[in-house]
Amino acid sequence: MKAIYTAAAAGLFIVAAGVMTTLTHAQESKPAEQLIDAEGNLKIPSNYRETYQYLGSWNPAADQPGEGSKQAHNVYASPGTIEAFRKSGKFPDGTVLVKEVFSTKNDQMTTGLVSHVDKLQGWFMMIKETNNSHPENKLWGDGWAWSWFDAGQPNKTTSKDYQADCKGCHVPAQDTDWIYSSGYPALNN
Ligand code: HEC
Repeated sequence: MKAIYTAAAAGLFIVAAGVMTTLTHAQESKPAEQLIDAEGNLKIPSNYRETYQYLGSWNPAADQPGEGSKQAHNVYASPGTIEAFRKSGKFPDGTVLVKEVFSTKNDQMTTGLVSHVDKLQGWFMMIKETNNSHPENKLWGDGWAWSWFDAGQPNKTTSKDYQADCKGCHVPAQDTDWIYSSGYPALNN
């Protein structure tokens, strides 16, 4: 009798584990899918600052030396990216990257000359998809979907063609899947 109960309990456990695995997979694939329309156009995830993982920042210097930064770039990745990348050294399919671009102000503060964010100018966004499901859309290629969005227009990209609008500047990062991943401590340490 006891053996039967044990077997039944083990069976239930296996079914429950199966359901949980299915749910986890469904949740994992959702974020990216919800951000891509039928034509393959993207939109910025509305709540990325709360729910995404912060990867790091870049601060291009002002044109004149000693003036601080002219922009602040903050990069976020969809949930689970850091763990997956640290395991495999790769961005898994469905990874969403958002880089927000701010203008800056440079002020003398009690810590010295400090550059800090001012106005949001817009977002760069990429979604990893090895098997390009939208070959007809010129914003897809080299394993990613690529787009820029002006601030205030998070649902409509102004980009037309990633080869012209993005790719040239990302060539130095070609060996790391087109991403400047060396700038993100959570992926590398
Ligand atoms: C003027 C050159 C330039 C252009 C044009 C450009 N990028 Fe980038 N991009 C960079 C550089 C350099 C970085 C990292 C340093 C920085 O942000 O200043 C970067 C970082 C990014 C990041 C953060 C992830 C990473 O690669 O580290 C995303 C996302 C991104 N770019 C997307 C795009 C998309 C999408 C386009 C086209 C719509 C585009 N970029 C066009 C130069 C460029």
